[in-house]
Amino acid sequence: MRDFHGRVAVVTGAASGIGRGLAARFAAEGMKVVLADVEKEALVLAAAELEQQGADVLAVETDVASRESVDALRDAAIEHFGRVHVLCNNAGVAGGGGGPLWTATPNDWKWVVDVNLMGVVHGIQSFIPAMLDHGEEGHIVNTSSVLGLGTGGGSVYGVTKHAVTRLTEGLYYDLQAAGANLGVSVLCPGLIATRIIEADRNRPPALRDDVQPTEEMQQRRRASVEHWARDGMPPEEVAEIVLEAVRERRFYILTHPAYRARVEERMRAILDGSPPPPLPSPEAALGAVAMPARGAGDTAT
Ligand SMILES: NC(=O)c1ccc[n+]([C@@H]2O[C@H](COP(=O)([O-])OP(=O)(O)OC[C@H]3O[C@@H](n4cnc5c(N)ncnc54)[C@H](O)[C@@H]3O)[C@@H](O)[C@H]2O)c1
Repeated sequence: MRDFHGRVAVVTGAASGIGRGLAARFAAEGMKVVLADVEKEALVLAAAELEQQGADVLAVETDVASRESVDALRDAAIEHFGRVHVLCNNAGVAGGGGGPLWTATPNDWKWVVDVNLMGVVHGIQSFIPAMLDHGEEGHIVNTSSVLGLGTGGGSVYGVTKHAVTRLTEGLYYDLQAAGANLGVSVLCPGLIATRIIEADRNRPPALRDDVQPTEEMQQRRRASVEHWARDGMPPEEVAEIVLEAVRERRFYILTHPAYRARVEERMRAILDGSPPPPLPSPEAALGAVAMPARGAGDTAT
């Protein structure tokens, strides 16, 4: 996609982190931007900040886990701006227990699958028919993770991210077969300085388990928050990488060249029939992210 000015972008999870970075970068390119997020206060603030900078924006409170809510987002976007050209299915949560996979609860699975996987499915089902109908050039970016390409900790999270990668590959073929004027990319970020560690701030009360976080869990969480803030790539840099990839119609978007080796190692292990490669530390840390999110008594820091 070459022409951004005056076109319309919809970004889910736009109130924070990568989504907020994408919304700002698209606005700087002269796009009209629809910011969608479940966290109302942060959404209003993010939209106000862009408006102050002269951007033409619309904020729509949206829960991507709900098809009805995503349909309402589409309707609001089209009613306000006429059509949609760029769709970023970006909203996501880290969760699912930091312990062994067999200790993740049904609520852990439901929350993470509903947001990370079904959120992307809902975006595709709701928006693509309308994007095909108007026939103008467009692009879809689905946010996966390096954990959606390689292997590592955070198994519930990783399962959903592998699903998003595979789903986006399928979408690529489907759009080709339909002769669509739409490009598609899967964004696979490494460590990014966002609030993903505090994702449980948006966990629905009905999907919380009554687990009190231990002192050790809380310590791990604090360490992860610091690690992400200190060592993560700024979301603005990710947004720059994404814009270039959309411009060039690049399918796989990796933010950290260092992670390429991880992808290669996993592929080699598959072909060699060896066990999964050992856990590297940043990915392993994502496994720790989720642990406190299970406790109803746990508060975001
Ligand atoms: N930060 C990283 O290191 C990293 C690495 C790889 C992939 N990712 C992915 O990047 C994406 C963006 O996350 P981030 O790192 O910017 O985290 P973030 O927590 O800063 O932002 C995520 C946004 O999604 C919103 N959200 C959560 N549940 C939602 C729902 N049900 N409906 C609508 N919005 C919802 C949150 O309110 C938040 O504003 C996610 O898909 C995440 O899995 C992040």
